[in-house]
This record gives sequence, C-alpha cells and structure tokens, in this order.
Amino acid sequence: MPDSNNSLMEKLVALCKRRGFIFQSSEIYGGINGFWDYGPLGVELKRNIKAAWWEDIVRKRDDILGLDASIIMNPRVWEASGHVGGFSDPMVDCRECKSRFRADKVAMVGFTRNGEELFSAAVETDDHSEAVDLARSKANSKTRKRLDQAGDDLTATVTLLSKLQYGHPTQCPSCGAADSLTEPRQFNLMFQTYVGAVHDDSAIAYLRPETAQGIFADYKNVLDSTRVKLPFGIAQIGKAFRNEINPRNYTFRSREFEQMEIEFFCHPSEADKWYTYWRDARFQWYVDHGLTSSKLRLRDHQADELAHYAAACADIEYEFPFGISELEGVANRTDYDLTRHQQYSGRDLTYFDDDTKERFVPYVIEPSGGVDRAALAFLCEAYTEDQAPDENGVMQQRVVMKLHPRLAPIKVAVFPLVKKESMPEIAMEIYRRVKAAGIASFYDEKGAVGRRYRRQDEAGTPFCVTVDGQTLQDGTVTIRDRDSLAQERIGKDDVLAYVRDRL
Ligand code: GAP
Repeated sequence: MPDSNNSLMEKLVALCKRRGFIFQSSEIYGGINGFWDYGPLGVELKRNIKAAWWEDIVRKRDDILGLDASIIMNPRVWEASGHVGGFSDPMVDCRECKSRFRADKVAMVGFTRNGEELFSAAVETDDHSEAVDLARSKANSKTRKRLDQAGDDLTATVTLLSKLQYGHPTQCPSCGAADSLTEPRQFNLMFQTYVGAVHDDSAIAYLRPETAQGIFADYKNVLDSTRVKLPFGIAQIGKAFRNEINPRNYTFRSREFEQMEIEFFCHPSEADKWYTYWRDARFQWYVDHGLTSSKLRLRDHQADELAHYAAACADIEYEFPFGISELEGVANRTDYDLTRHQQYSGRDLTYFDDDTKERFVPYVIEPSGGVDRAALAFLCEAYTEDQAPDENGVMQQRVVMKLHPRLAPIKVAVFPLVKKESMPEIAMEIYRRVKAAGIASFYDEKGAVGRRYRRQDEAGTPFCVTVDGQTLQDGTVTIRDRDSLAQERIGKDDVLAYVRDRL
C-alpha cells in the first residue's frame, strides 16, 4: 500500500473513532478481532444507507417485496445451499509462528510447481520478464487481465507477482520461515451454536453466513401469501456471520456484518435481460449516493471465474486505500438454489404461469451487497482535506466528510453566534422546528463558531445555520453549505423549507 493510502486509512480510522463513527468492539477488554461497533454518527450513517436502499428497492417499486427472516434456520437449509461441507476455504498454518492463511493466497494450491518455476525465472533474469511471461501463461483470466493492465510498468508487475505469492510458494508470509507451512486443510466459515439445552450433534445450528437462503426458504410463502406474479423480487437486510480466517482492512472483512440482498425471480428466458438490468441499476445506485469518482468500477467475471451454478456475475468494486475490492456482487444464479431446496425439502417450488400454462423453476438474479462495505466506501470517498477561513478570515486546513446529504448522519446544525441577546433562544427554536419535522439536527452553542463549523464538517453535516446580530434586526440567519462554503441569508422561518428542498 503506498504511503499516502496508508496515511489516508490511518486518518480515516482515527476520525471515525474520534467522532463516533466506528469503534472497536469491546475495546475496553482489548477488542475482539473482526467485530466492530458503530457509534452515534456511524449508526445514523448505516441506518441511512439501509433506509435509502429499502426505500429505493422495496418501497418505490411494485415488483419487490420485503422480508425479515430469522438468523438461525433449520440446519438442512445449509446442507441444501452447500454451506455445510462446501462453505470452507482450504487453509494452511505456519508451524513456526502459528499464523493461518488462505491456501490460495500463500501457496497457490496446485500451483506450487508454477510458483517455483516463476520464482526461479524471476531470480535468473534481471527484469523479471521471463517470470511475467510465465505468470501470464499460467494465470487465470482475472490475473492475466491485471498483468495486462500493469503493461510495461515493471514495478506494478513485480508488486502484483509478489502479492500473488508466485515467488514464495512454501514460505510463511508472516514470519518468513521456509518450509513451515502445513498442507492445506478445510476450515468451515460458519459459526456453530446449539439450539436447546442439550449440546449434542442433533442440536447443532448455525448463524447464517448470508441472508439469501432465508429468502429462498420463504420464496413459496411469499408467493402464496401475496399472489405476486413473475418477475418479482424479495429483498432483505440483515446480519450475517462468517468466521473469517483473516478479518482485515478495518470493517471490510468482518466476522459479523450486514447484507442487503435481493433475489429477483424471473422466467429463464428473461434472465439475461434482468441480470443486465440489475447489474447496471446497482452500479448507478452507488454513483447516485456519492461514489462519483473513478474509484468505483464494474467488473464482469470471465467464464473461468464463475461459480459452477452461475451463468453470469459482475462485481461492483471500489478502490479502497488498501486496494480494489468488492462492494457488491450481481449474479445470475440460474435455477440452482430453488432446485436444491426443492430436492432437500421435498416441497414443490415450481411456478405455474396462468397465462402460458407453463410450470417451471424460476431463475434468480441476485444483487448482494454489504452494508458495512458500502459505509466504508462512502466514508473513504467522503474524506477530504481542504482549506477554509477561520473566524478571522485566515485560511486553515480543514477535514470535511463530503457525505451525500441523504446519507449524512446530521443534516442541519444550528448555532447562536454568541450566548447572549436571545440568540440561543432563537437558534433553539429553529433547531426544535427542524428536528420535529424528522430531520436529524444538532444544536451547539459551545466555543468559537469556527470550531463549531469544523466539528460539523468532520461529521459530514451538509448545512449549518447561524443566528447572529442581524437576525435580531431583520429575522434572517446565515445558512452555510458544507462543500462550497457559500453562505446565504434566509428568513429564520424559512430554514425548514430550505433544507427540505435540498435534501
Ligand atoms: N448471497 C451471496 C453472497 O453472500 P458474497 O459475495 O459472499 O455473496 C455478498 O457476499 C456481499 O456481502 C459482499 O459483496 C460484501 O459486500 C458483503 N460481505 C461478504 N463477506 C463480508 C465480510 N466478511 N465482511 C463484510 N462484508 C462482507
């Protein structure tokens, strides 16, 4: 990670803690790896993301229905979905330092010989070109694409090769010990628990590793209770749990996180059309909520990257300070899931089309995003350092979170310029009126007004209203725009309408 990105991440993490966006879980006890808490500002940001998604996906459309399924389900669900037995990554342990890694990250399982060949080629030649050619010939299409993108940039290529661990197939990436890694072993990512008082095998249950299976299990209930017609979707937001081997990159890979998932059911002949529709619509949703920079990308999977049941898949990716990673995946999962649940439950999950008299298992298009990853991307994109004048007109560096107003935790802050001459009373009245209208607002009368602006800039508050001497004469207040720093004077009774208009 380049230094600037490193320091951006450090600054963001520090701001998130200082201002109450994100805390380490149970920090007073030393924390717990892979678990995070959202503080007073963070919980508002997260709720706003979920509310925006729910409003756009469920409330504003007439072809999507909502669901809130339980976290613990009948364990047979996870046999049908392939998570029991299948939802595990091969892992290797270092015998020396006891670190644990995903096997494909350190040893390129089944590629060890290639790794050795590559390593020798890289050592024997000065410019690594032989290693690069060899890597290209062995690589899957995703890696090849990345190598091609690196082009003649030798540093980028070598960085990529070392990241892929082509050169160090048997060396521990953590302590560097040679030949210290075990053979790859399966590791189940599902958290296991017991239902009821007796802790035997018959009581084993799992915390769901994705919300999707709750939707498949309830598909028939939704169909029968609403008599909805194809094509239609079921949407759900909820917690998911994965015992990730290596939680890292702040909240990006957590062990407890939230997903926003849609399973969109359609006739097989319409699956391609709906896949393209959802892929593009979901990408645009992130753009519309502030991810406007070139850091947001859409990447279609190549055929050799697809899961065996998927007919098409695309990742919506974001260039985080720690690298380009997935925010949301959109997949055409064919009739795989419903067919599996039909087999395992013995229930008929086919759909009967009254018009065509056709009976079939619908295809499913699945846009599956993470709330925490979305929040992290919005925070990264919003973090800005610029210059703003202080109360004496001297330019000072400021940190401002340019969050989309729909997502900003606080929409309006109201200040009296000084704590006298009835300014606090007027400011308090404006604050109460805006808050009573359901708009998240904040009242602050402490310290210099410049410092109060700075605090709201860091919180991402789009509008600050100040009651000053002129308010007492003509009833107007200043309203300051967070991003442009422009200040307008408007009537104190017009604040609510002004803010509503702009939100
Ligand atoms: N039902 C499909 C499914 O769960 P996934 O790619 O495993 O697919 C979907 O997960 C989304 O859930 C990811 O794009 C990501 O946003 C989020 N997600 C997955 N694992 C996560 C983790 N350990 N921490 C935070 N978010 C995660």
